[in-house]
Order: sequence, then structure tokens, then C-alpha cells
Amino acid sequence: MTTTRRTHTTRASYDTVAADYAELLRNELANKPLDRAMLAAFAEHVRAGGDGPVADLGCGPGRVTVHLEGLGLDAYGIDLSPEMVATARLAHPHLRFEVGTMTALDIEDEALAGALVWYSTVHTPLDELPVMFAEFHRVLAPGGHLLIAFKVGDERVHLDHAYGHDLDLDVYRFPPQLIAELLGHAGLAEVARLVREADAREKTPQAFILARKPERE
Ligand SMILES: C[S@@+](CC[C@H](N)C(=O)[O-])C[C@H]1O[C@@H](n2cnc3c(N)ncnc32)[C@H](O)[C@@H]1O
Repeated sequence: MTTTRRTHTTRASYDTVAADYAELLRNELANKPLDRAMLAAFAEHVRAGGDGPVADLGCGPGRVTVHLEGLGLDAYGIDLSPEMVATARLAHPHLRFEVGTMTALDIEDEALAGALVWYSTVHTPLDELPVMFAEFHRVLAPGGHLLIAFKVGDERVHLDHAYGHDLDLDVYRFPPQLIAELLGHAGLAEVARLVREADAREKTPQAFILARKPERE
């Protein structure tokens, strides 16, 4: 599949499921103490670095963006899917959400104190991740932090039905070491990682990697 076609099908799929996805996952973090622990550690590192804007990249309905706000961050969201962005704006009218893509972010160089990438690279094949990781490095300020969450494995799974709808979506699972190395190649040094087992609703273990853009020499 070409990049353009993949972008189109990913956007169309999330436009279709946006409202139901938002409803189904609204309180999902409440049952995930380890996930919340990584978000809390990310927030503490960002605040210790002097604060500044934090972008939730691939924010979906904004459920994690608002969680970051609750952790004291100046958080806003960006997503490929206009319907996801509309859903996020409706649910969280006090927060900012924009349509955009992680392959070419409309963000100035070194503007962000933090970037959250919460299960939003899971539809991107391995050979296209370096472009996104280079963008994350470009927009982070020196000393800024990135937290990425993804599904652990080494395969592509095709979804043609989810969240009560027909859709056309590839989901990629990756080994955590591989993602840590790709982040390192992009200039984002690993600070910590968590790999936890799947819960009752998940099919694979889940990984969370906290990384940091080094201070300027
Ligand atoms: C599995 S959902 C996760 C949404 C949100 N982070 C959450 O945890 O609820 C994946 C999201 O990534 C977005 N996405 C996928 N590719 C993207 C890209 N290239 N740029 C921006 N957003 C993207 C999708 O539109 C979708 O909303």
C-alpha cells in the first residue's frame, strides 16, 4: 500500500469510528495504573524541565490530552482525523485540538517541552517511522521529553471491523528494543521503558518508552 493510500484509509477509518471510539475508551485509563504511572512520570519530567507546550500527537478524542492537563501540563492535541478532532473539541472545549499529520507537523522547531505519542504510530509501518521520529526530534526543545506507547510484537494485523464499524486498518506491533533504537537514531535517548502484560481486553503486551532530546552542548 502506498503512503498516500494508507494515510487516506487511516483517516477514513478513524473518521468512521470517532464517536464510538470516544465512548468506549472514555474511562479506559482508570483501569490502567501502570499506564498512568508512565504518564505521571512523563509529566513530572516535563514540569521539572521548566514546562512549555506539550503536544498529544495522534490524540484521537482527547481522552489522554485532558489527562495530561490534569497532570499540570499545557497540553493540546493534533490528529489526522477531522472527526476525531471534532469529537475531542466537543468533549473538551477548553482545550485546543488541530487536524495535522505526524509526518509533517505544523510546529516550529524546538517549540515543545513534551510530546506524547499514545498508540498513534501503530498504523505506520517500520520503514516510515524514521520520518515521524525525525519530526518528533525537530519539534522538541533541547531537554524535552517524549513518551510513546505501542503494542508489543513483530507483525502486521489487518482490522476490517472494530468499535462496531467496518473499516480498513493495518495495526503494526513492534519489539520495544527496535523502537528504542529507532528513537536513538533520531537523536532521542531512552530514559526508561515499561513493558507490561496484556490485560483482559488486550491481545499483546504493551510497551511505553520515555525518551529525551539531549540539552545543547
Ligand atoms: C489508536 S488511536 C489512539 C488515539 C489516542 N492517542 C488515544 O489513545 O485515545 C490512533 C490515532 O492516531 C491517529 N493517527 C494515525 N496516523 C496519524 C498521523 N500520521 N498523524 C496524526 N495522527 C495520526 C488516528 O487518526 C487515531 O486517532
